Amino acid sequence: MKKLPKLGFLYLDYVLRFFDNSNFKGWPDKIEKVVYHWKNDKERFIKEIKKKKIDVLIGNIPATAYDTFVEISKELPNVRFVPSIQSQFSNKSKENVTMFCKKHNLSIPKTKIFYEKEKGLKYLKHKASYPQIIKRSYGPSNYGGYYVHKVNNYNEAEKLINKKKYNPIYTQDAINLKDNGDIRVMLIGHKPVCAFWRYSGKNQWITNTSQGGHMSYNNVPMNALELAVKASKAAKAEYWACDIAICEKTGKAFILECATAFAAFPYIRDWIGQYLMWDFTKGKFKIPHVPIYSWEELGKIDSKLLRTMRHIGFSKYKPSSDGEFIKNDTENFDMEKVCESFYKDFPNNIVETRLELSKYFDKNKKAEEKQLKKLNLNNASLTDIMTLQSMQEELAIEIHEFIQENIITDSTDLLELEAIDEQMLKCWDNNLCDMRVDINNINSEMLLKIKGIGKKLAKIILEYKKEIGKFETLDELENIEGIGKRKLSQLKSRFKIGE
Ligand SMILES: Nc1ncnc2c1ncn2[C@@H]1O[C@H](COP(=O)(O)OP(=O)(O)O)[C@@H](O)[C@H]1O
Ligand SMILES: [Mg+2]
Repeated sequence: MKKLPKLGFLYLDYVLRFFDNSNFKGWPDKIEKVVYHWKNDKERFIKEIKKKKIDVLIGNIPATAYDTFVEISKELPNVRFVPSIQSQFSNKSKENVTMFCKKHNLSIPKTKIFYEKEKGLKYLKHKASYPQIIKRSYGPSNYGGYYVHKVNNYNEAEKLINKKKYNPIYTQDAINLKDNGDIRVMLIGHKPVCAFWRYSGKNQWITNTSQGGHMSYNNVPMNALELAVKASKAAKAEYWACDIAICEKTGKAFILECATAFAAFPYIRDWIGQYLMWDFTKGKFKIPHVPIYSWEELGKIDSKLLRTMRHIGFSKYKPSSDGEFIKNDTENFDMEKVCESFYKDFPNNIVETRLELSKYFDKNKKAEEKQLKKLNLNNASLTDIMTLQSMQEELAIEIHEFIQENIITDSTDLLELEAIDEQMLKCWDNNLCDMRVDINNINSEMLLKIKGIGKKLAKIILEYKKEIGKFETLDELENIEGIGKRKLSQLKSRFKIGE
């Protein structure tokens, strides 16, 4: 088993600490703590991360520090931020939530954002349908509706805008909420683990429970869960929460807010910690088992207790012991697994190859990002792989193991895995990027990991490359003796010319 990554908690002065050691119970190594002190702390902070050799930095970044942390993450290209910086984009502002939802075609109320007051007022006067909900865009979300206002006509809208001076003007159609409630869904690894209705208090229209409302875990409609899953997958979020409105008339679901930052009960933080350890160890830790709609049980527990409760777990369904034995019989006794090699048992050159490989993929990260953040399976985390349609945990681990030994240049390479068929690949194609390898940036170890390339072929390709220095087009491969038209067309699906 590969060495475990070095974990660190990311804390910021004055910011609530979402995770601590208790959420990562069982993690065998020390987990570092790194505190960001605001005001010109960037360089010192980066140095500390490097000095502590942290591989994974865990923690939410508040809206006001988002841009600084985008820069910090660029200077730490080998550090994995959890939640990923990309998934924290929508924490920053309501504008970002809207942009994110539009980009990924997620259902939202009709929303307009104006950077010029005059244009905003013109829209509100002539085009908008009332009531409108006007919100302050920037700043942390989930302020309990403090910066959220309902206006019933243009006069009210104008008065509000003159008074609040929000810039930009962020205004959206009010959804006529079913039973005056909206729904909070929390997800871990794209699975809903808790969801509840929030109903507004008396004479209130805002549903935040901090404003006197109440909640119910019952009868959360499936379309709200589906929309939340779609958003979590689009964000590739390790954990995620959505506020969803259901239209009274049509039953249609709309995202009001979504983010990686949200208030969560202690046991949900524990589940997140367990899930992350599963991801970081590629499945060696157990993934928490959380059946869908399990939260309906929570409604039976006093909510005061819920806030402090820890260690809630749901046991998996187990068939009778005989049945289980047959199901699990892989002709491999548990005791035998002890003989598996440890990382340090590998000869040095293999270890180095792995390091080289990770360098190579990091270098190509930029080019990849251009490809609309599609997945390259060769450097995907388990959370990334879990975004693929109908993906199951076991299969995600299998794929992850496969890519340790192989470089995938085309999704069809995965057909070697028994559980994968062409139908599945077709579903995934839209979410996978061009995984071909830059022929000008290869070495022999890498070549040998590519399907259809043996020692001989690797050798002649590298020799030819040495001779010419750099490939300009892939057709040059045909100049190599031993590579004919057929082989060439095969190789073209494996290589590309990098930028
Ligand atoms: N478009 C809308 N239609 C109806 N109600 C809304 C709309 N937008 C917000 N609300 C209500 O206001 C509450 C707070 O809005 P939200 O955007 O979540 O802001 P906050 O950051 O304060 O939580 C929501 O939970 C919901 O009850
Ligand atoms: Mg909210």
